[in-house]
Amino acid sequence: MKHFISIKDVADLTGLIKTSKEIKQNPHTDSELGRNKTLGLVFFNSSLRTRMSTTRAAYNLGMNVIALNVSSDSWQLEFSDGIRMDGGTAEHIREAVPVLCSYCDIIGVRSFPALVNREEDYSEKVINSFIEFGTCPIVNLESATLHPLQSFTDMLTIEEFKSVDRPKVVMTWAPHIKALPQAVSNSFLQWAKQMDFELTITHPEGLELASEFTEGIQVEYNQEKAFEKADFVYVKNWSSYQDYGKVVGQPDWEITLEKLRNTNEAKVMHCLPVRRNVVIADNVLDSDHSIVIPQAQNRLYTAQTVLKEILTSL
Ligand code: CP
Repeated sequence: MKHFISIKDVADLTGLIKTSKEIKQNPHTDSELGRNKTLGLVFFNSSLRTRMSTTRAAYNLGMNVIALNVSSDSWQLEFSDGIRMDGGTAEHIREAVPVLCSYCDIIGVRSFPALVNREEDYSEKVINSFIEFGTCPIVNLESATLHPLQSFTDMLTIEEFKSVDRPKVVMTWAPHIKALPQAVSNSFLQWAKQMDFELTITHPEGLELASEFTEGIQVEYNQEKAFEKADFVYVKNWSSYQDYGKVVGQPDWEITLEKLRNTNEAKVMHCLPVRRNVVIADNVLDSDHSIVIPQAQNRLYTAQTVLKEILTSL
């Protein structure tokens, strides 16, 4: 594996999940693989799980880790070409990325969308600049439109918790007070399509995601109907793709215990962080339905799998 930007970088998904299960059983087997190698973690946005799990994964492989919070620790970066840099940006991405790659063997990048200009966000300017100007492998720690480390984790978690060969997996929109990216949802669909799932998306009309991600997947606008006999309910808010970045208020789409009554005792998943009693009710998160903690724990093993794959090909 050269870079890890999306599912397109995965040649063998079944093999990757198998490796992550092996790593989960024996996380210290490859503790020499990353000796004298350094992982750089570049954060343009906040993180708890991604930062901690990727750092721990690198330590399990014997790597060193350096994290940079761009907005608070570093120079403000310029991405436009041919401009006179007499404003707020002090360093151009054309210098910053090669310099970072001269210190690090692998670089992970987290950069959320601004949710103002759809074309700009979907062009993936930040992560593509790291690939273009970098000389080392780049790992997507959540970009403007995709979160592949989360999706890989979600696939591993469903594989672990499924009780039937072909589970019914329902990805449901849920309300939120802020404009959130579509990255987790887009990416979940990219990965879930490659699995043997009965896959359904449910959301209020008008909240359709980009067709490149939803193509071929059943959309059911009636949440109650969508949940019937579901084995997994994957909960995620996203702001409008059509009316780009708009927050849609639909409080009745919150996930409550009552809504799970016609499921197949569905396991409830969420990438976290989750706003209790806005997105998912306490009585769901504190019940046996919820698998959000083991799901988050799996972030460690999938991150370690990806780093192992890249280290092996250096
Ligand atoms: N799910 C996830 O990516 O969590 P963080 O934003 O805390 O990294």
